[in-house]
Amino acid sequence: MTNSKSSNAMWGGRFAQGPDAIMEAINASIGFDKRMARQDIEGSRAHAQMLAAKGIITDNDAKAIREGLLTVLSEIDSGTFEYSTALEDIHMNVEARLTALIGEPAGRLHTARSRNDQVATDFKLWVRDQLDAAIEGLQALIRSFLAQADAGADMVMPGFTHLQVAQPVTWGHHMMAYVEMFGRDLSRMKDARARMNESPLGAAALAGTSFPIDRHMTAAALGFDRPSANSLDAVSDRDFALDFLAASSICATHLSRFAEELVIWSSAQFRFVTLSDRFSTGSSIMPQKKNPDAAELIRAKVGRINGALVALLTIMKGLPLTYSKDMQEDKEQVFDAADSLMLALAAMTGMVQDLTPNKAELETAAASGFSTATDLADWLVRSLNMPFREAHHVTGALVKLAEDKGCDLPDLVLEDMQSVCAEITPQVYDVLGVYNSTQSRTSYGGTAPDLVRAQIARWKEVLG
Ligand code: ARG
Repeated sequence: MTNSKSSNAMWGGRFAQGPDAIMEAINASIGFDKRMARQDIEGSRAHAQMLAAKGIITDNDAKAIREGLLTVLSEIDSGTFEYSTALEDIHMNVEARLTALIGEPAGRLHTARSRNDQVATDFKLWVRDQLDAAIEGLQALIRSFLAQADAGADMVMPGFTHLQVAQPVTWGHHMMAYVEMFGRDLSRMKDARARMNESPLGAAALAGTSFPIDRHMTAAALGFDRPSANSLDAVSDRDFALDFLAASSICATHLSRFAEELVIWSSAQFRFVTLSDRFSTGSSIMPQKKNPDAAELIRAKVGRINGALVALLTIMKGLPLTYSKDMQEDKEQVFDAADSLMLALAAMTGMVQDLTPNKAELETAAASGFSTATDLADWLVRSLNMPFREAHHVTGALVKLAEDKGCDLPDLVLEDMQSVCAEITPQVYDVLGVYNSTQSRTSYGGTAPDLVRAQIARWKEVLG
């Protein structure tokens, strides 16, 4: 396949022939990097202003460029901008349009700059916006878990290990476990944002430039803390995207865990919670069904987010310094992961806000499966001064007895208890109830409602 078109207007000086159509297809990124149009224009406006301030271009040219770029932005925003695949990417699309609008001064914009520092800057600005959105989304999600914890601080439910009933816990405690998880995600996103906030602009192609530019000025104009210190690193670094993807993967993993709990809990076999109609769907054939589709989709989103992380790690692996075109493949992955994460965060926040815990079912389940056996063993230790290993053994015998009689531990009469251990007194029954059990777990970080309330208060303060 050949292409008789003339060579590229931006870099075609040494080319006699235009690119093959297939070359154009594999080379062009405009189909997706148009999402960075606003960042591209913002970066170019800051660059033009700096060039004028340093006397590298005239004030008049800078003014024409800066205003022209705003016109380009308004065309993009209103949907009248015509993107061209022949112009490869967003950078050259914008510049070509600027040339059409303002003529000669547009050609001065690319002084002391390369698409290498330009794309690194644009992409960083884009990822930074996503980090901010993730931070906001996580704060909203954490608040929704806090509200659930507040409302059910002393509601009992079974705590599980191996998905087998283990010990009674409080609903508030379970909700607060997710607050801790998403709190770590929040701090990871904040860390990533603080680490990435250095400006690549002015690194030029790779080595810096001989023009007397002021990188601190463009860095400040774009909200960066400082310019990046090494021009080679600046154009070849995609750690900021990897950091975002890594934090997103972990966050999506957490989302998938609660999503899975919602799927289990909302089933007819559990009935721990009722999902709102707003976040459920029906079946086209079975009229009785109310399906937790949103939870299932949130559970699945982690697949594409992890995929994006692995893809970008693989793209970057083994790349020699500095820029290589491989790095153009960075964006679609990050775009998709960011879209998926923001949607999953918003959907989960809505589901948690609307979630109704079913108190009676939770309480019944909390008392099932001999869930207070540990309380009984602890009582034997505390009241009879029995070594824990022996208490564990005695309790095991009592559980077996209850199992044989087809009853729960609190239903064993005192004589039954004493047939296993003669020293047991009626006080033992105090520790066999699920409420007392949760109240008694007062070690720091434990499930006792007062401790849960203290953690809720601490988190409310952290979020401000
Ligand atoms: N579209 C390119 C990208 O996304 C822009 C940078 C091109 N640089 C170059 N030296 N060809 O990576």
